[in-house]
Amino acid sequence: MALRTLISEDQIQSRIREIAASIDADYPDGTLYLICILKGACFFLADLARAVKRDAYLDFMSISSYGKEKTTSGEVKIVKDLDISLEGADVLIVEDIIDTGITLNYLLELLKARKPRSVRVAALLDKTSRRVKPVDAAYVGFEIPDEFVVGYGLDFAEKYRNLREVCVLEAD
Ligand code: PRP
Repeated sequence: MALRTLISEDQIQSRIREIAASIDADYPDGTLYLICILKGACFFLADLARAVKRDAYLDFMSISSYGKEKTTSGEVKIVKDLDISLEGADVLIVEDIIDTGITLNYLLELLKARKPRSVRVAALLDKTSRRVKPVDAAYVGFEIPDEFVVGYGLDFAEKYRNLREVCVLEAD
């Protein structure tokens, strides 16, 4: 297996600063609730949370898609739920990648039912060509082709998450 850099560390960090500036401009004063979907979004959450110039609460949710056999029914199991209440809050779901859109469709419905003031999505990567269910993401870092990507939180069998860039994993 070989790694080919798709998005460099500089490109990622520069785009995150742009997204953070948009977030600061878009939201009214007040605390922003940043919800990290584990594990892939951990670095995006860490960098985005420190790039916004406002108070932010951080919380983490872990979900599993029933052994990766995702169906359009969107069955997703919560492995670790949030600790904080979202009632009346401005909530931003932080994701590393949108692929079929099934996960985010489920999460948006789940979190909207908790009566936040607003709920939006920030995703670093978007594989639009793979979409099964539409997702309206307010903030997207990069649209990428349908290639297997790793790094900056994304894994292949848990490996490569700690790369500083996003790479395509290619067969030798
Ligand atoms: C990835 C990603 C999203 C989901 C997107 O998580 O972080 O949560 O898949 O796919 P979808 O749009 O097709 O629903 P993954 O299940 O790989 O877990 P991980 O972040 O812990 O690696």
